[in-house]
Amino acid sequence: MTLLQAAVPHPSPIFSQRVMLGQHNVPSWDRYEAAMRDIFERRYYTNQGPLARRFEERLQDFLVVRHVVCVTNVTIGLMMAIEALGVHGRVLVPGVSNTAARHALAWCGAEPVFCDVDPVSGHLSVAGAQAAHDDQIKALLGANLWGDASAAPMLTAFAAARGMPVLFDSAHSLGCEIAGRRVGTFGQIEVLGFGEGDILNAAGGACVTTDDDELAARLRNIRSSYGAGRPVPVVKTSNGRMSEAQAALGLLSLDDFAVNRKRNRILFDAYLSQLRGVAGIRVVEPHGAAVSNHQSLVCAVDERVFGLSRDRLIDRLSADNIEARAVDVAQDIDGLARPLPTTGHIAASWLMLPIGAHVDVAMVATVCEIIGTASLQADGASV
Ligand SMILES: Cc1ncc(COP(=O)(O)O)c(C=O)c1O
Repeated sequence: MTLLQAAVPHPSPIFSQRVMLGQHNVPSWDRYEAAMRDIFERRYYTNQGPLARRFEERLQDFLVVRHVVCVTNVTIGLMMAIEALGVHGRVLVPGVSNTAARHALAWCGAEPVFCDVDPVSGHLSVAGAQAAHDDQIKALLGANLWGDASAAPMLTAFAAARGMPVLFDSAHSLGCEIAGRRVGTFGQIEVLGFGEGDILNAAGGACVTTDDDELAARLRNIRSSYGAGRPVPVVKTSNGRMSEAQAALGLLSLDDFAVNRKRNRILFDAYLSQLRGVAGIRVVEPHGAAVSNHQSLVCAVDERVFGLSRDRLIDRLSADNIEARAVDVAQDIDGLARPLPTTGHIAASWLMLPIGAHVDVAMVATVCEIIGTASLQADGASV
């Protein structure tokens, strides 16, 4: 039985185990066990321990940035960044971004003003920021998503010209480069993520980056009431300390970064070449980032050409145990004061496909064949 025949209808899924989204980069058990034993023998588990400090130093070198402040997750990193910058009032945020950005603003008493995004890359451009800007806007919170990047240098210049601070939620884009500079070095502050879905896995950690010594001192004092480094007065503290266990995993994952990026690139190229022949499917290629970590595989579905809606395709893949998911948008955009047509289109038609440690080239071929077959079977039928 060929795969084509098996796909209609499929009494049993083609993959017996769920093919999950996310990078899922974990070290070998031996390396993990040695790292954990080291922590237990030292009996120092948290609060700016030696591994957290080493991880920060390694990241500073890797990103080529003056300060890296490691924290437990991206959301707290964003909250700390907004607080350290003293941002209040109305803040520009791309419509295509994670809800964490708007929630972090809410925690800091700031209000998101959503901007529409570029239809090819899904990222904020200067034109999108300009269209939403008015005299009441106090800052710009951009996003670098899916192993790609926004027009960060141009957005930074746009904000500087208007006297606004700019920060980026760069959760997905560790190791990506814009014109020879790594993401993590743009704007006043960036926040990069180390969740299971990210190329660098520190069991959900994150880091806040800045080249500004004063901001870094504020961030280290906001991170916990114990502070760290030079004490400076801050209004509020939080608890975003990275544990030694997270830092140990992060260090191991940083060692593996080049290998994991290479694997992602091979898988990305396989998707690109095999989906090129499927009418109505476009792999969203990195646009702002000259070098990508390829940690996500994003596709745009043109329902009229493909024959199935994005959601029907997700269901179809799910029936064969392949996890696919709509890309995140900041919130339900219906009813916003300013319409965001491109954000709305992306929210309805873009999806993410599995790419990561548990995916290989043969699996990519199968996923692509199922997608091609789904299109043929749709045969122009209603979606
Ligand atoms: C772009 C982006 N920003 C922020 C977050 C929130 O991250 P965390 O769960 O580490 O707070 C996520 C989570 O998926 C994300 O994808």
